[in-house]
Amino acid sequence: MSLFRTKPLDQIIAESKEEGAHTLKRTLGAWSLIALGVGAIIGTGIFVLTGQAAAKHAGPAVVISMAVAGVVALFAALCYSEFASSVPIAGSAYTYGYATLGEFIAWIIGWDLILEYAFGAATVAVGWSGYVVSFLSDLGIYFPIQFSAAPGTRFVYLSAEAAEKLSQTRVAENLLTARPGWNLLNENFAEGIKFAGYSLDSMETGMAVFNLPAFLIVIAITFLLVKGIKESANFNTVIVIIKTSVVILFILAGISYVNMDNFSPFIPPNTGTFGEFGMTGIITGASVIFFAYIGFDAVSTAAQETINPQKNMPIGIIGSLMICTLLYVLVSFVMAGLVSYTQLNVPAPIAVAIDAARNLAQGSPLGEVFKAFPMIIKIGAVLGLSSTMVVMLMGQPRVFYSMAKDGLLPEWAAKIHPQFQTPYITTLITGSIVALIAGLVNVGILGELVSIGTLFAFVIVALGVIVLRINHPELERSFRVPLVYVVAPFAAGASLFLMWGLPLDTWARLLVWMAIGILIYFAYGRRHSHLNKGPVGAVGE
Ligand code: ALA
Repeated sequence: MSLFRTKPLDQIIAESKEEGAHTLKRTLGAWSLIALGVGAIIGTGIFVLTGQAAAKHAGPAVVISMAVAGVVALFAALCYSEFASSVPIAGSAYTYGYATLGEFIAWIIGWDLILEYAFGAATVAVGWSGYVVSFLSDLGIYFPIQFSAAPGTRFVYLSAEAAEKLSQTRVAENLLTARPGWNLLNENFAEGIKFAGYSLDSMETGMAVFNLPAFLIVIAITFLLVKGIKESANFNTVIVIIKTSVVILFILAGISYVNMDNFSPFIPPNTGTFGEFGMTGIITGASVIFFAYIGFDAVSTAAQETINPQKNMPIGIIGSLMICTLLYVLVSFVMAGLVSYTQLNVPAPIAVAIDAARNLAQGSPLGEVFKAFPMIIKIGAVLGLSSTMVVMLMGQPRVFYSMAKDGLLPEWAAKIHPQFQTPYITTLITGSIVALIAGLVNVGILGELVSIGTLFAFVIVALGVIVLRINHPELERSFRVPLVYVVAPFAAGASLFLMWGLPLDTWARLLVWMAIGILIYFAYGRRHSHLNKGPVGAVGE
């Protein structure tokens, strides 16, 4: 069955060792890879989603959700590391699938990775735009709302008095965050306006037509990536140091003000709906928060640009994930300890938490640090989110590059720039499409799609590790998953479990996306595959 033909492993390994002007340039060492991983991981997830997971799903037990999601990610990271060290190639999960589970599944993963990298970058770009607009307005620079969000996004103008009143209004247990000037008008907010005794009809409202900051940041990063991975990695390292410092500062500044009363009840009772508190709330919380861990796997797409990938890949993948897991658990502990979880359903929960600490610290030397904190967090987020986009926008073209080299995508997609040695055509195409998505699409839904797509890739990578162990026991593996027959099935099962925690319509969107991909495969890839020309490996060969 040619649908399940596999790409011979010795061919992949030979390709991974190719050198010269038409190949990617090897410049990255272990530290650059760890920075690349941390750069991709710390992003919208920790800066925004932690608050939502606590307020809507897990309560203070968001700390457990965070740890659960971290363990699932860690098991998947072990599987990625075994592959990335033994088959160090830019195609990452796509190529691992090609070597083990056959062409059709490989195509499915390649197509699925678009959800993770391209849609992921677009999601983060929109989060970035929100922070930039808010940061500018703190400085007294007001970005026109028409160009600050996806078409159709509504805004309402609040006077100082109305903002004050709305800030004291609760909707579904959560306090609203309102500020004088333009505010995002979602269902919650509209309800709050009614509760506060105002009528929307008599207020000034406006509608956005394009998210210009999100569009522009993607274009800027795309040009950086065309220029070279080393330049991009250097830029990334500086930013990673800044954003990690912001996260550590939050932990250190907040930890001594943690109020244990906020942890009681630690697991608020379930409301009767699946996923709203109780044990199921912890699971849904873990599924939502999982987005915060996405990115460590993108390190594996830099395999062909890594010096001694056999040794450095596992260090980069596992090292970056472990650092972030530790930071995340501490951040969620401090956040849930500083304020009641009911106050955390806001776009910048870290700022809300630190505000509570500021009140407690009045008069102490730390008070000054706290005063500057909202600004520090915003700068950290604005810089930090750009490095997440760098890694995602770097990963996507490298997967396309590998698919094009195999004939599953047109050959021009694998072209390398003669001077910069980067896959410039796919980088430019990916960047342009992602920029448009970021400018036009409301990405509330996309975040969940990114999570389900990534988890699906993890399932296949974990199964692939087992298949490779069985079919190629002789392969030299500089990193081996410990207790592989326990860890790999657990990684696959746990990823499926978290997928189960996501809403049904996210599943429906995944299936539609996959159906489109399968049509494209049968219309193009299957007939153009280079395996049609060369020797065809048998199933599982
Ligand atoms: N982990 C990345 C983030 O949270 C995708 O933004």
